[in-house]
Amino acid sequence: GESVLALAHRCHIDLEGACESSLACSTCHVYVNTESFEKLPEPDEREEDMLDMAPMLQENSRLGCQII
Ligand code: FES
Repeated sequence: GESVLALAHRCHIDLEGACESSLACSTCHVYVNTESFEKLPEPDEREEDMLDMAPMLQENSRLGCQII
């Protein structure tokens, strides 16, 4: 499937994704609406670690490159 990050780029939405989905940045940080958030599989530990460094972290934060 296509990640939220790839979809954003295809649609010319300004979401950075500096590390090209290798879980080495948090510039693909997004907020997910509650209904969709609850349907997503839990983030793995590497995503959690990068998310912890994201500015403006919220309960519904995820990394866009990890949402497929
Ligand atoms: Fe770097 Fe998603 S693009 S972690």
